[in-house]
Amino acid sequence: MQLGPSLTLQNPVCLAAAPWQLPDGLGYEHLGAIFTKTVIMEPRPGRGEGIIKVADASLLNTTDRRTDGAEQLVQEHLPHLRRHNVPVLVSITAPGIPGFRKIARYLAREAAGQIAGVEVYISSASTEKGFELTPRFVREAVEAVRNELGPDAALIVKLPPWPDHVRALALAAQQGGATALAASNLLKALHLPDAGDPILGGLSGEALRPIALRCVYELAHDENIKLPVIGTGGIFTAQHVRDYLRCGAAAVQVATGEWLEPGLTARLATEWDETSSSVTEPQAAWNS
Ligand SMILES: Cc1cc2nc3c(=O)[nH]c(=O)nc-3n(C[C@H](O)[C@H](O)[C@H](O)COP(=O)(O)O)c2cc1C
Repeated sequence: MQLGPSLTLQNPVCLAAAPWQLPDGLGYEHLGAIFTKTVIMEPRPGRGEGIIKVADASLLNTTDRRTDGAEQLVQEHLPHLRRHNVPVLVSITAPGIPGFRKIARYLAREAAGQIAGVEVYISSASTEKGFELTPRFVREAVEAVRNELGPDAALIVKLPPWPDHVRALALAAQQGGATALAASNLLKALHLPDAGDPILGGLSGEALRPIALRCVYELAHDENIKLPVIGTGGIFTAQHVRDYLRCGAAAVQVATGEWLEPGLTARLATEWDETSSSVTEPQAAWNS
């Protein structure tokens, strides 16, 4: 499970959008890696955490939530996350290419020895407002980050859950210098409360899993895509982990499962450790 020239995971189970404070004693040291919540260069105020349960084990992350800044990440959050002695990868976003360059430069300068790599969240704040997320934008954003981090850094690109379009974005990420892909991020969705205005946000959890599995399958079965794929979406059980690996994922990330049941990801990683001696390498991905 190699996600970059100098990043090999001890376990395929990773935490995505990790809470800034992870309690001790739950087994997080078994994880493959911790991926942080997304940070931006200048913190953006918002209305708290903004999470709504919209269906069974499925959440809507509202778009108006608070986003922490890179400085707060380095000063406050990283020391906590690094206590668990597994690689920490920082998720970043920016409204445009210069912004990606700026935040990557800041992290390269202030946190290089403390982080195992960066995850690029390409559906940035401005893309959410209608900016077209094109392969060109992805390639240029990834190139900008790559240039700041240097040739050896692990650089994961987190893709949107769009099975019809994920391939072109993935190829662009590969061209720009990504070392791995993550599929997928939240799916744009809307919650209509009984009373009040529609609430816009991103869907995660159970409802997302079949779509994210399809994205992983498309990427893992494309002969031009050489990068390892991290499967993300609706993982709650060891069977779900195995399903992603059977579709061709090299590793997985858990977010909603951890949010609904703190410690779930550590438990899945521990279970993997316990059973992996009897499990052979993930089967070669199916031929389509
Ligand atoms: C509470 C919560 C917060 C999230 N925050 C972020 C984030 O800051 N950055 C990001 O790239 N994805 C974020 N996500 C998306 C997850 O990383 C993941 O891609 C998506 O939720 C699908 O996985 P899941 O079904 O296991 O949640 C968040 C998801 C949840 C549930």
